Amino acid sequence: MQKNKSSVLGKLVLGITGGIAAYKAAELVRLLVKSNIDVQVVMTEAACQFITPVTMQALSGKPVYTGLWDASIPNGMPHIELSRAADAIIIAPASADFMAKLAHGRADDLLSTLCLARDCPLLVAPAMNKQMWDNPATQRNINQLQADGVQILGPDSGEQACGEVGLGRMLEAEDLLYLIEAHLQPKLLKGKKILITAGATLEMIDPVRAITNLSSGKMGYAIAQAAFEMGAEVTLVSGAAALKPPFGVNTISVTSAESMYQAVMQHVAKQDIFIGVAAVADYSPVNASAQKIKKSESSLTIELKPNKDILAQVASLPNAPFCVGFAAETENILEHAEQKRLRKILPLIVANDANDALGSDQNSVTLLDKNGAHPLARAPKIEVARLLLQHIANML
Ligand code: C5P
Repeated sequence: MQKNKSSVLGKLVLGITGGIAAYKAAELVRLLVKSNIDVQVVMTEAACQFITPVTMQALSGKPVYTGLWDASIPNGMPHIELSRAADAIIIAPASADFMAKLAHGRADDLLSTLCLARDCPLLVAPAMNKQMWDNPATQRNINQLQADGVQILGPDSGEQACGEVGLGRMLEAEDLLYLIEAHLQPKLLKGKKILITAGATLEMIDPVRAITNLSSGKMGYAIAQAAFEMGAEVTLVSGAAALKPPFGVNTISVTSAESMYQAVMQHVAKQDIFIGVAAVADYSPVNASAQKIKKSESSLTIELKPNKDILAQVASLPNAPFCVGFAAETENILEHAEQKRLRKILPLIVANDANDALGSDQNSVTLLDKNGAHPLARAPKIEVARLLLQHIANML
């Protein structure tokens, strides 16, 4: 199941306003077009002082619109016409002045009128000097735009064109591409509830020592993020993972396999999908010591008891959700994974190489279901997550 490179991922209006960061918009258009996103560029008069419409036309392969009175649009209403086919409008860079206009619903040029008349989401990538960004007026406008449902992308912190250093730089074109692609994901899981486990569990030996494993949590967090982007209501039960909770996801932190089991069982009712990505410790100490165990010259034996298999237990519930497992193996990967799928009675399991996947930002996996093996190309974990969820959506 490879990505179909020829299909258009979405249609965007890219609005460019007056700021030095307008040069980054050229790179953004190049990346968008390369990613099969159809881009219609609209520029303000000030933007044309920083970068020319000719450049943007060459990169987008379409005429660029700058004026409200452009006669080339058939019905003479470019402010309505240009955004009707769009999946979203993105303003990059968005100047402080343009955001002030948006916050007040002003419509005195093509781009601001287009935004006011839109029937699609609006994404804004601010770019300005740090004092302008910090100014209470700008912050008021940002709060207002967020309250109006506008998605603010960035800004970044760093060196600015004026020589000052601080918040206000526009995000790099690659970061914007990533956020736009996320926004354009088809809402294949709209109305679905999905429960995911991620990360490593900690089985305490004493107050300062634990049995754990090398899972980073990156794959599970990527799936949670991708599921949210696809419109699902997501609950993430996370063991140890040094990661920021994904935006829009109900994240519950746990430590041991037992507390992960309890949290999962508490939330599993009414879930449509359960994906066990967590590397759950197979054993835990029979008696964790209440005090730190003192070092001594003699050998130490810790008696271990097996933990509950959370995924197998969820899969065997009466009204079980659609259950998906992960199998991180070091040898005979597909055979071992398929055995696990059958043993735990799962419609789908994701096989990956433990040596390659653990801690990495990329992963190369094979999906195994009753129809056989579906290898996915090695890709960033977020991309693997999207393809996995597409496969699940097709199976539901
Ligand atoms: O540990 P094992 O290789 O059996 O893990 C396979 C799948 O089972 C993974 O999806 C993992 O999250 C899940 N699992 C679980 N509870 C356990 C052990 C594994 O949910 N105690």
